[in-house]
Amino acid sequence: MAGSRRTPRARRSLEKAVAASRQGTANVTGERKICDSGALVDGGDAVRFTVERGGESRPAFAIRYRGRVHAYVNACAHLGIELDWEPGRIFDREGRWLMCAMHGALYEPETGACAAGPCNGGLFKLPVIEKNSAVYLAHTAFTDAS
Ligand code: FES
Repeated sequence: MAGSRRTPRARRSLEKAVAASRQGTANVTGERKICDSGALVDGGDAVRFTVERGGESRPAFAIRYRGRVHAYVNACAHLGIELDWEPGRIFDREGRWLMCAMHGALYEPETGACAAGPCNGGLFKLPVIEKNSAVYLAHTAFTDAS
């Protein structure tokens, strides 16, 4: 659901922002700290935060998987509800998949793509940067997407 509402322009803008964040070239002035790096354990609990989009506050989360940090809008692609089993508990027991508590949809932690279950498309990925022992959201890049 989250992915299906994006316009082509918004999708291109977000893809550019994600690519920039991966290359470490995102707009530094737009960064917002999410948490200290130590708060994210590989395959462990997510850190929840919020993002502003279209004048609305949206729940989001950051996770660490295979050493790298990823972040998503916290909205299952099935019904748009938050994925957590308990606040911040989104990984399955093995720490392999992001799993929706409602109907068990599985998402790939590195891309947010739907892997199994009733998820159409995937999670809405947010650009994040890890540096100086902290994790940042490339805030300006995200708000450019409408
Ligand atoms: S609401 Fe997430 S799988 Fe149905």
